[in-house]
Amino acid sequence: MEVFVYKQYEEMSKTAAEEVADVLNAKPNAVLGMATGSTPLGVYLELVRMHQRGEIDFSHVTTFNLDEYVGLPITHAQSYHRFMHENFFRHVNIPPQNIHIPSGTTTNYRAFCDWYERRIVDCGGIDLQIVGIGSDGHIAFNEPGSSLRSRTRLKTLAKQTIDDNARFFDRPEDVPIYAITMGVGTIMEARQILMLANGVKKADAVAAAVEGPVTAMITASALQMHPNTKAFLDEAAASKLKMREYYDWIQFHKPGAPRV
Ligand code: PGA
Repeated sequence: MEVFVYKQYEEMSKTAAEEVADVLNAKPNAVLGMATGSTPLGVYLELVRMHQRGEIDFSHVTTFNLDEYVGLPITHAQSYHRFMHENFFRHVNIPPQNIHIPSGTTTNYRAFCDWYERRIVDCGGIDLQIVGIGSDGHIAFNEPGSSLRSRTRLKTLAKQTIDDNARFFDRPEDVPIYAITMGVGTIMEARQILMLANGVKKADAVAAAVEGPVTAMITASALQMHPNTKAFLDEAAASKLKMREYYDWIQFHKPGAPRV
């Protein structure tokens, strides 16, 4: 995992958006893996700005979202369908038929999950996957104990995740207990992964994911086994990394490295 630390959340988000733009410049019909939550909001804001300035075109892009709550209609204020529509899709020009978000209201979860997996493959696989990290070390809703080879499936959320997300709901008991999520194995097949984290609340999870052992107890640690993952962090999220000076050293010396 390559670690990049930024002074401010805004700078982190801007650089992450530039990574997305680089992918689209190289491959206008790229397949993007999208994430919800407060972390990627800055990236979406920046991508929308770039689109409005005419710097990026999404007209050939396909997207797959990581996860969705089970039981919330797509119009619910906290559904991830609604989140993505409000914060990103309605501001850019991705053809609606190219947008994929797991269904939280299907009557056949098993069949839907199998279809979602097949659809990712049929679209050529995910070129760049954006992921956040939960305070329990999850990626998407792959809670502690999830198989590191897991595929898209129905998942029971951990108490910590429900508590973390209660801030978005009127009452804590309104937070869904189940979600449908891409598996760790699904995410690991993306060609490139960008893991974003900001704030001190993520510092322990980030340290465990980046520097701890690879374990199903911290599913983000599986990204250590991925050949092309970058962790974009703000200072607070990076504050518990033991090898911080080394990451800065690498970035400082990178421009002088021999060209291959
Ligand atoms: P957050 O969630 O961006 O709202 O902190 C991240 C996650 O749970 O993956």
